[in-house]
Amino acid sequence: MHRNFRKWIFYVFLCFGVLYVKLGALSSVVALGANIICNKIPGLAPRQRAICQSRPDAIIVIGEGAQMGLNECQYQFRFGRWNCSALGERTVFGQELRVGSREAAFTYAITAAGVAHAVTAACSQGNLSNCGCDREKQGYYNQAEGWKWGGCSADVRYGIDFSRRFVDAREIKKNARRLMNLHNNEAGRKVLQGRMRLECKCHGVSGSCTTRTCWTTLPQFREVGQLLKEKYNAAVQVEVVRASRLRQPTFLRVKQLRSYQKPMETDLVYIEKSPNYCEEDAATGSVGTRGRLCNRTSPGADGCDTMCCGRGYNTHQYTKVWQCNCKFHWCCFVRCNTCSERTEVFTCK
Ligand SMILES: *[C@@H]1O[C@H](CO)[C@@H](O)[C@H](O)[C@H]1NC(C)=O
Ligand SMILES: *[C@@H]1O[C@H](CO)[C@@H](O)[C@H](O)[C@H]1NC(C)=O
Ligand SMILES: *[C@@H]1O[C@H](CO)[C@@H](O)[C@H](O)[C@H]1NC(C)=O
Repeated sequence: MHRNFRKWIFYVFLCFGVLYVKLGALSSVVALGANIICNKIPGLAPRQRAICQSRPDAIIVIGEGAQMGLNECQYQFRFGRWNCSALGERTVFGQELRVGSREAAFTYAITAAGVAHAVTAACSQGNLSNCGCDREKQGYYNQAEGWKWGGCSADVRYGIDFSRRFVDAREIKKNARRLMNLHNNEAGRKVLQGRMRLECKCHGVSGSCTTRTCWTTLPQFREVGQLLKEKYNAAVQVEVVRASRLRQPTFLRVKQLRSYQKPMETDLVYIEKSPNYCEEDAATGSVGTRGRLCNRTSPGADGCDTMCCGRGYNTHQYTKVWQCNCKFHWCCFVRCNTCSERTEVFTCK
């Protein structure tokens, strides 16, 4: 018995030893991989590279969040002259717009919100170390409204904090554009935070709802995109105030107001007028509208007159063919007709 026990201890130590060596090797492999990956990602600021190396699990989620932001941007602006593309170096955050326009404001806000959203979602699903469900919202009983916190509340503050640390770290130049970008990043995150929802579930005999448990959930990202699009339409032009002794840009104020006023926290702000995005232009980053699809009869921004900036459009005719009038015959086959239609699409010259 005694000897058996000693043998057992020996094996346990042996196992742990092997495990320890393996874990050590694994973490150095992971670290090595992170080094290579983080150095390959274009356009990271030094502090972002450092975060990337220390949290290689998070960098994938950050990339997904930024991509979600870009996809949403492309969706929201699919009918505009500016379709969320820009000339220039590709980074994790897409191509940068050179001009401090309201379009730039939108891209910053949507990517900052995208990263916060993705990190929060990954935390809730247990995909990231160092975070999980919102611990503060556990066990607390709301007597007045008759429910208590339960389930997994999304820890949006963690996601927002992470987005702040990572996304904001790319603003290294001390200029007006930095203040603009930081403001818009924060506005995007504030909009996300404002759309957090409370979801509840009833408990009790046959759904009698004698007790309810509630938790907070993230909004659909589309909702954030729509709200930010409205903010884009109402974006506020600002100018910098150089208040410090070194005359560095210190804060932003609303332009063209006699009285001094700061923009609201959730306003999107811009410092320069937008170009018209008609022609390709390396100076502004505009890709132009050549080759864009347009709608000949639409009076809106996707109408060919507006979209093509008066250059005219090309007409492409093709025949669309599909299966139609399908009937089910007993038993067992389906017979269809072939339908076709001549269609035209228009692209800008
Ligand atoms: C969490 O990880 C699982 C498995 O890798 C993946 O399918 C899921 O999409 C991840 N969720 C988030 C929010 O990243
Ligand atoms: C935006 O428009 C440009 C120019 O026509 C085109 O090359 C690009 O593919 C478009 N991007 C998207 C996401 O539709
Ligand atoms: C073009 O615009 C018109 C008017 O807004 C709309 O009814 C039509 O569905 C549009 N066509 C396409 C192909 O989007």
